[in-house]
Amino acid sequence: MSLPDFATRLLRWFDQHGRKDLPWQQDIQPYRVWVSEIMLQQTQVKTVIPYFERFMSSFPDVQSLAAAPVDEVLHLWTGLGYYARARNLHRAAIAICQQHHAEFPQDLEALQNLPGIGRSTAGAILSIAFQQRAVILDGNVKRVLSRHRQIAGWPGLSATQRELWELADQYTPSVRNADYSQAIMDLGATLCSRSQPQCHVCPVSEDCLARAEGRQAEFPAKKPR
Ligand code: ADE
Repeated sequence: MSLPDFATRLLRWFDQHGRKDLPWQQDIQPYRVWVSEIMLQQTQVKTVIPYFERFMSSFPDVQSLAAAPVDEVLHLWTGLGYYARARNLHRAAIAICQQHHAEFPQDLEALQNLPGIGRSTAGAILSIAFQQRAVILDGNVKRVLSRHRQIAGWPGLSATQRELWELADQYTPSVRNADYSQAIMDLGATLCSRSQPQCHVCPVSEDCLARAEGRQAEFPAKKPR
């Protein structure tokens, strides 16, 4: 009997175990999804939650963020770290108001032209906020994919990047795309962790090439020295 495909197994796992009660998963709007994705780029979910709630209370929409002095934005960011994220958020809010009539652009290229939004974050916004089929590839997803297919190159190399994006695209379903995006990020953040992966409960471990050889720790490859 053949194994259900990668996305099917992941979605089944997400239905049973995924987090669905996070603040940015309620009242889904592009603005809220964007702010959460920026906060989650380098910070864990449980740390982000109170910052997200305070941010939304102070700046409930993109207009209020654009109109605020940058110091107020930075003040709300105190403790989250990587303050360039907050400056970029503020600059992007101004750009959205001035260049896009305060409406979020709904295509990859326009989103990536905004400060602080790279290809993966643009994909997450399209997928989660706009229900488009979009591909994501953040650090957690790179770890899942490079293990699953034993992608040997260091992800900092452009050839490896290309290979990972290609694979991410192949694995991404056109149905339930938003849930899939959330599911693969959650898998990377929880079971498929860097040092103690929980392969015995992972929904995609049966055909994970790194696991088959006990080489999970070798993927993703370290920077060559
Ligand atoms: N990291 C980046 N985006 C995320 C999300 N939506 N959920 C969990 N971790 C993330």
